[in-house]
Amino acid sequence: MKEYKIEAVLHIYEIDELSEEDQALVEAAKQATKGSYAPYSNFHVGTAARLQDGTVVTGANQENSAFPSGLCAERTALFAAGAQHPDTPVVALAIAARKGERFLSKVIPPCGACRQVISGFEERFGVPIRILLYGTEGIFVSEGISPLLPLRFVDEDMR
Ligand code: THU
Repeated sequence: MKEYKIEAVLHIYEIDELSEEDQALVEAAKQATKGSYAPYSNFHVGTAARLQDGTVVTGANQENSAFPSGLCAERTALFAAGAQHPDTPVVALAIAARKGERFLSKVIPPCGACRQVISGFEERFGVPIRILLYGTEGIFVSEGISPLLPLRFVDEDMR
């Protein structure tokens, strides 16, 4: 038997250790939670995507009484970015969440489906996406989706 080892390294930052543009992106994600429609979970998630030209596109989770019809904040933001700026790569993505009025102390990691979509955007543009997961205790930063989604399914696998 052989072993295939997977190692993931993320870095944890205090907010003032981030660059100004990353701080602004985290702030945009926090602000974006205001657009969340979450009457069922009361879990308000905001995402801000920074494009290569500096444009920031935000999204928030949108729930529906038919639960699977809703959509996470991450995909709302990424699909909006893709639809509005089809030729501009997404280079960074910040995610923040609050329960009621309180932002969470622990980071909120994207769900599996959102990780796959982030991976698809990296593939689409051939550019890694810096992912910033906000928590009041610290911000986890992943350089690209790979640490969060090792052994992922990519176009290459279909060839
Ligand atoms: N949610 C997100 O928007 N992003 C995530 O990464 C995890 C979960 C939303 C979906 C749903 O509206 C609520 O949070 C509870 O699952």
